[in-house]
Amino acid sequence: MTPYVADPVYLNGRFLPLAEAGISPLDRGFLYGDGVYELIPVYSRRPFRCAEHLARLQATLDGIRLANPLDTAGWTAVVDRLIAEAPWEDLSIYLQVTRGADDKRDHAFPPAGVPPTVFAFASPLVTTPSDVRARGVAAITVADDRWAHCDLKVISLLANILARQQAVDAGCAEALLIRDGCLKEGAASNIFVVRDGVLLAPPKTRFMLPGITYDVVLELAACHGQPLEIREIHENELRAADEVWMTSSTKEVLAITTLDGAPVGNGKPGPVGERMWQWYQDFKNTVMRKG
Ligand code: PDD
Repeated sequence: MTPYVADPVYLNGRFLPLAEAGISPLDRGFLYGDGVYELIPVYSRRPFRCAEHLARLQATLDGIRLANPLDTAGWTAVVDRLIAEAPWEDLSIYLQVTRGADDKRDHAFPPAGVPPTVFAFASPLVTTPSDVRARGVAAITVADDRWAHCDLKVISLLANILARQQAVDAGCAEALLIRDGCLKEGAASNIFVVRDGVLLAPPKTRFMLPGITYDVVLELAACHGQPLEIREIHENELRAADEVWMTSSTKEVLAITTLDGAPVGNGKPGPVGERMWQWYQDFKNTVMRKG
């Protein structure tokens, strides 16, 4: 069976088998969810937009006041070695930094001498099966009750987890988060809407993770002359949409064809989304795989 995590993993400066990688139960990632993460897709062993992922990691570290344990060259060396030793051509690299383990439990930051815990591993890139992609997926809407720093990619994801599980319990793939009457994003994806041929994208605010895939979609829209508006999307507009899609490093561009049990548009993936999916595939095969 293909393992989900490749050996070796990286932990605190060492490359070692997953089975030998251990951390303290007092680690603040375990006790408090006090840490940050990134997920970098890798195509044909080339990390996609590595610099952008590392910049978002830095922004999140700054946002939680945790010093970056590695510089760009250090992170790049970790990523490159995990890719080189992984048995797959297409994979994902997961990076995590927590505020480390003190010898006691205290909400306030540990003393300066406590080192962060740095963990990274490679897994196969799990992509959407082609029949699911061609059909689209179902989603529900839920109230967005997350905190006010959703722009930070932190490991404390309980609200996202509960929202996603609500979707799974309803037989759906994603939960769309509604705050103050507007669509913000999905539990683990960004969401786009198409109305009358115009692509609508929620703006980057404190209530949305600035997705790397979101940026690629905006770039592809601009490059191909797709009409685009970046603005708040009211829940009523979402429900009256011709098309709704989710995007992420692993889902790429995936149509949502049922929302809260009702068809989106005609209930099939729409033409704008299909074009965007094709542009994304072309971009992946001509740019991402070639570096
Ligand atoms: N999640 N919004 C949220 C809340 C996310 O968790 C993600 C990605 C995105 C899309 O970001 P990007 O395009 O950079 O992948 C938006 C990753 C895949 C995860 O948590 O595993």
